[in-house]
Formats: sequence, C-alpha cells, structure tokens
Amino acid sequence: MPKFIINGGKPLKGEVKIGGSKNAALPIIAATLLTEELCVIKNVPDIADTHTLLEILRSFGSEFEFKNHTLRIQTKKIIKGKVSGELACKMRASVLLLGPLLARTGKARLPYPGGCVLGARPIDTHVNVLSQLGVRELNAGANEIAFEGAPRARGGEVVLPEFSVTATENAIMAAARARGTTEVRLAAVEPHVQDLCRFLKKMGVGVSGIGTHTVIIRGIRKPRGVTYTITPDYLEGGTFILAAIVTGGTVTVRNVIPHDLDAMWNLLCEMKVPFVLGKNSVQISPPKKSTPFSNYLACKRLQTNVFPGFPTDLQPPFVVLLTQAQGKSKIHEALFEGRFKYLPELVKMGAHIETLNPHEAIVTGPTSLKGGEVKSWDIRAGAAMMLAALIAKGKTVVSDIHYIDRGYERFDEKLRALGADITRLP
Ligand code: EPU
Repeated sequence: MPKFIINGGKPLKGEVKIGGSKNAALPIIAATLLTEELCVIKNVPDIADTHTLLEILRSFGSEFEFKNHTLRIQTKKIIKGKVSGELACKMRASVLLLGPLLARTGKARLPYPGGCVLGARPIDTHVNVLSQLGVRELNAGANEIAFEGAPRARGGEVVLPEFSVTATENAIMAAARARGTTEVRLAAVEPHVQDLCRFLKKMGVGVSGIGTHTVIIRGIRKPRGVTYTITPDYLEGGTFILAAIVTGGTVTVRNVIPHDLDAMWNLLCEMKVPFVLGKNSVQISPPKKSTPFSNYLACKRLQTNVFPGFPTDLQPPFVVLLTQAQGKSKIHEALFEGRFKYLPELVKMGAHIETLNPHEAIVTGPTSLKGGEVKSWDIRAGAAMMLAALIAKGKTVVSDIHYIDRGYERFDEKLRALGADITRLP
C-alpha cells in the first residue's frame, strides 16, 4: 500500500495553483449524460474520483478523452451497462448518476454506492427526492439500487428533507428533461451545486434561483452539448491556505474565489491569524513577531454547517491549526457523526483533544506535534494528517493515502514544490 513519508518542520514558501472543484466536476460529468451531444469540460481535476466516475460512465456507453484537465465526453446512446460493484463502491458520488439516467431513459440501476466512511450516510434523501419526482424505487436486492419512471414533479415541486448536496444535484438533474417547471425547495447552495446549475443553464435548461434555497428548473427535451469550465476547488484552496498557516509559511494560493471561504476568514480573524485576500488569490505570511504560533488564539467554536457556514470538509485540517493556537477551542461537527476518526491519530502525535461525543470535541493548544505512524480515515482526514506531519518534529508515515488521491490532485507534488519534504512510497 502506498504511503507518504514526511519530515516536518519546514515552513512552506512560494505559489500554488488550485485546480477545479472535485465536488463540482463529479455532478457535471454525470450531467453530460443528459445530452447525446459532445461536451467539453475544462479544469477537471485529475484525481482518482474523476477516473472512477469516468470508468462507470464507460459502462453506460460514454466515450471520452481526458487530457490536460480537459474532458471531451459524449454519450450518443445509453446502453444497459453492468457497472462493476467494485468501481461504484469506491465512491459515494456514483449516486449522482441516478438523476441524469432517469431523466434520459426513465430507468437507473447501480450497485449500492460506497465512498468515505463518514457515518450512516444512507441514501434515503435521494430516494425521497426521486419519489417526489414520480420515480419508483424497485426492489433490487441488497447490493443494488434501481429506479424506474420519467421524472416529473407532482404539483411542480420537490421539497428536500434536508440540505443534502448530492440529493439537491440529483433532483435538479432529474428535472432537467422533465416537462414543465420543477421548483426544488430547501436546496443546498454549496458552490459546487451552483456550478452544476450554471452548467445546465449553458446546456439550455431553464435554471433560476441559483445560489438560493429555491431553484426553479424548466426542463427541455434536448439539452445541448457545451463547453464549460469547472469552478476552482474551495476545499483544496482552504487546505493549502491552512497548510501555509500551520507551517508559518509565506505562500500565495492562486485560483481561489475568496468569498467561497467567508466562514473561514471569520474564524481566522477571531484567532488573529493574518491573511490578505486578492481578487482570485490569498496571501499567507507569518505574523511579524518571531514565533508565529504563540500569537494565534483559540476560537470559541468551530461549528460546521451547510454553505455558507464553515465547511465540514475543512474541519479536519482546521483542527490541526487549533492544536497550535492558545487555549481551548470547541469543535462542533454538525453534519457527520463519523468525522472525528482522525482525532486519535492527532492525539498520537501529541495533540490535546478531548472527544465529548461523535459531534463535539475540545482542542487545547498550543502543543508541539511529533512524528509517528498515522492513518488517513477519509479524504479530508488524510489531508489533516499531512498538515500535522508538516509541522511535526521528526518523521511521519501517513498510510491509506488512496483517500488523499481520491480528492487532491498531486497533493504531495504540490506541497513538495512549496518546499515540503515528502516522499511517496509506492
Ligand atoms: N446533513 C445534516 N443537515 C443538513 C444537511 C446534511 O445533518 O442540513 C447531514 C446528512 O444527514 C449527512 C451529511 O450531513 O450525514 C452530509 O449530507 P449530504 O447529503 O449533503 O452529503 P453528500 O451529498 O453525500 C457532499 C460532498 C461531501 C461533503 C458533503 C457535505 C460530493 C460528491 N460530496 O456529500 O464531500 O462532505 O456534501 O458538504 O459533493 C469530500 O469531498 O470529501 C466529501 C465527503
């Protein structure tokens, strides 16, 4: 199993360019199934999740070429493919195929989606939304999910039971070819949901209310093939910003949309961490005083929330920063009950963290971290391990790095270009 070996203690220096958003690319690639025509998608992250989704699409008849972050993809005809369970198990985002498959063919059958182990994560929100669109769930057995029926909202509306990101995306894609208007209420508003909406709009689908909790879709019979550029990944951006801060580095993070991270800027201000926002970049430099960490204050509460609240996906890397801040910080992970599995790994490295329950923990800092052997529990927990290793004394071995490769393109190379001492063991 590949691993990273990191020798910590070097402040990062230089510039890093952030790629396209994973969580926008996945639904947008799925949405190319809505048209028979060619789509050209630019700024697609070259990560394991993209390749997995493309392989799944191949089994539905999609033809594609993916080079230099540009994906040319066309699905002239959807074939009744058999998706390998092994592929679908690699990622939960395979569930995103339900909406477009149903919109185009009125049928969808997939192996039960896998992905990061972040707690219960059932798919009942997806089932609920699809049934509001008049789609029937078939009894497909334990390892598969199957649906039938052309999506069409009764009464023209779908009300989500919670602000689920991918269920909102499924509802929007399912409605894209439906007759009439579908009002999707309690819609999630994450930047990637908005990016999918802009993509559909370019395809000719009527979409209004983008960025609000009520998105109105006017379906069309034949969405057209388009060229589209994926929005920058605010989660990759946030991770590199935090890497620069924790190492006391001097780094310009380019190709980010600063207002996607408003909740993080609020916390950083509260903690007296300096940063400078540009139009599409963020500049991090250590504080003027000699030892950077002695200047950072704990934050009263790191509370994750749906957008525009603090993203759950940046909670683990932010906690690494909290281990370096003065005093007690309370973490409240509101979304996932399985997102604290990495905390014991940080404790092994010397962090003072008390887990109160699956949603709450208290971090007391500052603590100096020491190297050791730690594991990636999911994509973002893996990124947090890397950040901890960058500031730890001595050598850290990070295992299960396939999670990191699922969501971060060349994470080790990008960090190495900023001066980090990282080796990838094959
Ligand atoms: N939830 C709430 N309250 C809400 C909304 C959601 O408690 O108002 C809970 C859900 O019950 C669930 C969790 O929050 O336990 C997340 O639900 P959601 O359905 O929104 O998650 P998802 O659509 O499966 C997407 C991202 C995840 C990201 C979450 C939350 C994609 C492909 N995946 O998942 O990304 O953590 O939204 O923002 O977009 C990652 O990139 O590493 C990742 C896991």
